[in-house]
Amino acid sequence: MTEVIIVQHADEAGRLVADAITALAERTPAAVLGVATGSTPLPVYRELAAGAGSGLLGGLSAFALDEYVGLAPDDPRSYHHVIHSEVTLPLGLDPSRVHAPSGDPGTLSTAGARYEQAIAAAGGIDLQLLGIGVDGHLGFNEPGSSLASRTRVKTLTEQTRRDNARFFDSPDEVPMHCITQGLGTIREARHLVLLAFGARKAAVVAAAVEGAVSSFVPASVIQLHPHVTVVVDEAAASELRNVAYYRHAQQHKPDWQGL
Ligand code: F6R
Repeated sequence: MTEVIIVQHADEAGRLVADAITALAERTPAAVLGVATGSTPLPVYRELAAGAGSGLLGGLSAFALDEYVGLAPDDPRSYHHVIHSEVTLPLGLDPSRVHAPSGDPGTLSTAGARYEQAIAAAGGIDLQLLGIGVDGHLGFNEPGSSLASRTRVKTLTEQTRRDNARFFDSPDEVPMHCITQGLGTIREARHLVLLAFGARKAAVVAAAVEGAVSSFVPASVIQLHPHVTVVVDEAAASELRNVAYYRHAQQHKPDWQGL
């Protein structure tokens, strides 16, 4: 089932998804969370951090989607560092249970397989948070990525490097390569929660949710997953065709059905 929830504001999405993660932690204190970087999931992390005093989240493990190649883990622009400062510390997670793929150029040839093994050893990912790139990427699986791909090194598109230049002093500093969970890896998470906000994401959200499943729109792979929740604001929902049905289903959602 691909459920589409349309919210008025990103903060509302943050509350909704944070509640779902809190409920997961209540049911399964040692649950495994898949975390994304970028701007989109920040309202979720903010909400979770606000409730972190309860200690409820302390047993969770987390796996990041991706990492740049060639940035040291203590480089503030590395996803190791971003996850540490935006997720691990504010949510009170145990740093030894928070993982990101290694972008160390010296060990790249085995880094993908090692990351896959670590996810499997943790029992797989229960809930995977996802953003979406304007070029349709999921994780850093750029257009053309195999729908069955596993964690591996990819070359970033110029579009993605431009989009992420805001985190660097100059666009040239954005690494050319990354290591990312594959689309096949992401598909194995038990619940996918894809978030998108703003008009800039409207066309790609429509393509991913309602268009053909194609490696050319990597995020369209979510249509092959049995449990997906897409949470979008009105602007990001503005090019969806089936929007009346999504609102109808939301209004008549059975009480027992969580996110
Ligand atoms: C981040 C990631 C990317 C982002 C995407 C959207 O770990 O894997 O797929 O989710 O680039 O980025 P924002 O949220 O900054 O628009």
